[in-house]
Amino acid sequence: MSSLRAVIAGTGGYLPERSLSNDELAAWKGLETSDSWIVERTGIRRRHIAAPGESASDMGAAAARAALAQAGAGPADVDAIIVATSTPDSAFPATATRIQAKLGVARGFAFDLAAACTGFIYALGVADALIRTGQARGVLVIGTEVYSRILDWADRGTCVLFGDGAGAVFLRGLPLAEAGGRGLLSTHMHADGRHGDILVVDGGAGTTGGTGVVRMAGREVFKHAVTKLAAAVDEALAANGLGHGDVNWLVPHQANLRIIEAMGRKLHLPLERVVVTVDRHANTSAASIPLALAEAARDGRIKTGDLVLMEAIGGGLTWGAALARF
Ligand code: UT7
Repeated sequence: MSSLRAVIAGTGGYLPERSLSNDELAAWKGLETSDSWIVERTGIRRRHIAAPGESASDMGAAAARAALAQAGAGPADVDAIIVATSTPDSAFPATATRIQAKLGVARGFAFDLAAACTGFIYALGVADALIRTGQARGVLVIGTEVYSRILDWADRGTCVLFGDGAGAVFLRGLPLAEAGGRGLLSTHMHADGRHGDILVVDGGAGTTGGTGVVRMAGREVFKHAVTKLAAAVDEALAANGLGHGDVNWLVPHQANLRIIEAMGRKLHLPLERVVVTVDRHANTSAASIPLALAEAARDGRIKTGDLVLMEAIGGGLTWGAALARF
């Protein structure tokens, strides 16, 4: 067992150019929604939509390039690429290998991971284990999603909630002494397949042969979210002997501002210490946390040495939390 620590050496994000407002959706004939309903229930005001032909691998590669550049790293430094996505370019090859090729990385290994909106937390957990066990030293962890292609645009209960985008971090394995306390402290992954049908894509390559669309029992997911996220956050802090007061930033999965505010209150963190992007990005599933991380790390809010708590819940059900010192 090596004693390497997975330090977040760079972050990057990518959003498609097209931004679609609530008012534009409200103007769609037959959708019967409004800006005020969407804002009051979710905090969402707009979302980005991928251009025709723009894929999860295109967006993921753009986010990854930014993360590598910020880390001062290049293709030769990448041992592994893990892509969390529910909207892969195709069943295979993995979107991760598509990104590998687009980045000009000709070494190491690359694979996709499916844990819906919790995908980035799971991918961090796997990357951390790879680094700690000495199997990889430089790992790109990417969340990239084109939910616009798996939405039923006639279902107002889901189509107003999601958006497209990608985020990435480059993790560098450093010896404990060199890391100086920085890096991933712990990750905590959970799943309960008994609730698989309350948030689901109703088709797939191995069943219908197609892709299907998102179906969600929103109120039920909401109830699970509040209790399960609270438990995951407590678990992460307890595992490290830390308390609420030690957290500098909460970087939550961005599904609903009401859930995000509830988690902030639980941690006694003012909203200024919670990174919020849901208003502009909507729910970008596995991309939401790395997009939010990239925004706050790049605009100077998250500083070196800050303790950052991440949490997410999504289809599966899957949920989890991760603690990192930047
Ligand atoms: O990322 C994965 C994790 N996902 C989540 O965490 C999502 C969790 N759930 C939620 O965020 C919320 O449950 C929603 C935002 C999805 C829905 O909010 P809600 O307050 O739970 O509303 P609801 O589903 O109970 O619907 C209330 C009403 C219904 O009408 P009736 O039955 O009261 O007449 C819906 O038909 O709002 C109606 N409605 C809408 N009205 C206008 C549902 N969607 C819309 C809409 N515009 N877009």
